[in-house]
Amino acid sequence: MGLFLKIFIPLLGGLLAFYFYSAPQSFNEEMLRGKRVIVTGASSGIGEQMAYHLARMETHLLLTARTEAKLQKVVERCLELGAASARYISGSMENPSFPEVVVKEAETSWGGLDMLILNHIGYSGFNFFNGNVGQVRKLMETNFISYVAMTTSALPMLKESDGSIVVVSSMAGKAGSPFAASYSATKFALDGFFSSLRHEFIVDKVNVSITLCILGYINTESAVRAVSHVIQGTPAPKEECALEIIKAGALRQRELHYPPWVVSAVVLLRDIAPEFLDSMTRSWYNVENLRRT
Ligand SMILES: NC(=O)c1ccc[n+]([C@@H]2O[C@H](COP(=O)([O-])OP(=O)(O)OC[C@H]3O[C@@H](n4cnc5c(N)ncnc54)[C@H](OP(=O)(O)O)[C@@H]3O)[C@@H](O)[C@H]2O)c1
Repeated sequence: MGLFLKIFIPLLGGLLAFYFYSAPQSFNEEMLRGKRVIVTGASSGIGEQMAYHLARMETHLLLTARTEAKLQKVVERCLELGAASARYISGSMENPSFPEVVVKEAETSWGGLDMLILNHIGYSGFNFFNGNVGQVRKLMETNFISYVAMTTSALPMLKESDGSIVVVSSMAGKAGSPFAASYSATKFALDGFFSSLRHEFIVDKVNVSITLCILGYINTESAVRAVSHVIQGTPAPKEECALEIIKAGALRQRELHYPPWVVSAVVLLRDIAPEFLDSMTRSWYNVENLRRT
């Protein structure tokens, strides 16, 4: 059984990774030149790195997050790197009216939109669920409802341009992970909503692609700070992750798995051996390093 799992799982993971990675077309940076792109959560981490890649590809950028000082610096760097234009709008996605304000800004500045990259997340901590329902509700607003609201506002422009929606999610949105109950719930919600919407677009012949990005552990400052004392394993590089997300969006892929074999193996095990996956997942955590709050 042990040998079987050692050989069979990586093999199937590899095959699935190949399936998810083998796009009908190959990526070319020209695909994005001059495109009008919104990136949320762009003041740090993966969002910041996506902004830099997109700037090198000479796109028009509208970046958003809460911290104005950080956004200013990211915009400056984007202009140095060659962005066709770069601007920011600061605000919190906890505020129900902010998603529409961001999309309106794109409409006023550009009169259209080619790609909407939804990437931000609110703070959720990493610990046992402490019964704080209000915190779950708040996180749903930031991590889920605001994604729906931005998509709704941006849809007329995306339909016009045959554009793309890129939704950044997580392995925690495919298989339950401990110590991240609220976060995991928001990511499962994204999968449910956007996978349904994708069907409807196809039925309605709406030529707007939806790419759901399922990410494993990535070496952003916030993720490493939150989990490195509890999770075993080396995080994947945020720069490469950001580029893979952009490629998947440009190629209109249905789903991105990054790092490919880790995520694909987890998704596969969830379906064929869920209890095995659960116990393997629990074994990755050094629970004794968690301090209950
Ligand atoms: N890093 C990982 O290991 C990992 C794993 C799986 C999935 N992901 C996914 O990848 C995406 C990016 O993660 P990351 O690690 O790059 O995160 P990060 O570095 O913490 O960046 C989060 C971004 O969201 C912004 N933000 C936070 N609260 C906000 C709010 N209330 N309203 C608007 N913006 C807000 C932050 O900027 P301000 O603080 O300035 O607002 C920041 O720009 C997320 O969707 C995450 O779930 C990451």
